[in-house]
Amino acid sequence: MNENTELDSYQKLEAKQQPNWPDQAHLAQVRNTLSNLPPLVFAGEVDNFKSKIAEAAAGRAFLLQGGDCAETFVDATADRIRNRIKTVLQMAVVLMYGSSLPVIKMGRMAGQFAKPRSNDTETREGVTLPAYRGDAVNGFEFTEDSRVPNPDRLLQAYNTSASTLNLIRAFNSGGFADLRAVHEWNKGFMDNPANANYEEIASDVDRAMKFMEACGVDSAELRTTEFYVGHEGLLFDYERPMTRTDSRTGKSYDTSGHFIWIGERTRDIDGAHVEFLSKVENPIGVKIGPTATKDDILSLIDKLDPKREPGKLTFISRMGATKIRDELPRLMEATNEADALPLWITDPMHGNGITTANGFKSRRFDDVMEEVKGFFEVCRALGVHPGGLHVELTGDDVTECLGGSDHIDETDLEQRYETVVDPRLNHKQSLEMAFLVAEELVNFKR
Ligand code: PEP
Ligand code: CO
Repeated sequence: MNENTELDSYQKLEAKQQPNWPDQAHLAQVRNTLSNLPPLVFAGEVDNFKSKIAEAAAGRAFLLQGGDCAETFVDATADRIRNRIKTVLQMAVVLMYGSSLPVIKMGRMAGQFAKPRSNDTETREGVTLPAYRGDAVNGFEFTEDSRVPNPDRLLQAYNTSASTLNLIRAFNSGGFADLRAVHEWNKGFMDNPANANYEEIASDVDRAMKFMEACGVDSAELRTTEFYVGHEGLLFDYERPMTRTDSRTGKSYDTSGHFIWIGERTRDIDGAHVEFLSKVENPIGVKIGPTATKDDILSLIDKLDPKREPGKLTFISRMGATKIRDELPRLMEATNEADALPLWITDPMHGNGITTANGFKSRRFDDVMEEVKGFFEVCRALGVHPGGLHVELTGDDVTECLGGSDHIDETDLEQRYETVVDPRLNHKQSLEMAFLVAEELVNFKR
């Protein structure tokens, strides 16, 4: 284990949302193994990413983060990972084309294996077992064997993250993310308005690429892309062993991902999560829900970004469509007062959960878009750059969120509802959203 005891100051504070591991000796062994495994990301990459976020915070770029609510081990297949990456790449092209801003691409991927839950336990037909806390902790299957937290799963989370990241890196440097492949990313999806609109943009991009080629431009930026990864930094038994000291600078980096965010349920200023993540160099995100106060914002800035370092801090607003216009302005104003320049992005998913009459946890596409609109309105009123979008999505044809151009209704949810935690936008809904957000960005610049 990294012997930097400064990093252990969090241990004196309340650590919410941690599993009750039954076997502490086994856990200690796993933590030790993890701490000796190679880092998943490197300090230099994290620094580069921070400088990109700084560009977005300064109004010169837009951050797009997308992926599962909860990644699972069984779904870390080449097809599913590729479809998710394709979806994010397509969304990025749409956003870039519409707004003429560079789009920073990031997955909610390669580490999103731990979930905060409202209850420690779940009861079904008189049987009570530990709640599912993500594949890094226990299994989704409702049996004692699967639900008891097992530290070996932390190692499997590491290995699955490593193979996911390996595929991401291979895709992005091996030609898959080549802008000349814009049409390819659209193949295999059924015809619908979003895919048809996308084809038009792709043809324009194609022409532009051919024009540049004819001019003799052959830039690496067009052939490869940078694709970063981030997840919620929830489990100390994973994040702490993955935190290493950079030999160049002597500074600490959480090498489990480029970007680590603190969830709405664990962002207390006196809690262990904020303390621990205040000690690492990574850019940090904090989810901000409607109960946040101006004081919360000011103290989070002072604790997580005391030096007011460009790119260090991202606030991820997740208010809900009906609340955002009322609740966000006072919080955004506070950042001006603190003389800080955090990046503000919108997560239009987590404030808009509903349970349908037939018992599915879902979200309405229209509510999601209404929250995005509210976010842009508030940003415009306060002169803040609407810096990015954080979405739960999948590249597959699931039926988990209601609405969109396919008019998914409550009965459709029964067809392909595959998420283990929150409902995700499917491929088409994601692309459709990108067009609508691009429109908002264009209007914002007017
Ligand atoms: C999530 O991002 O899946 C999540 C739990 O979000 P929040 O912390 O905003 O509720
Ligand atoms: Co979620």
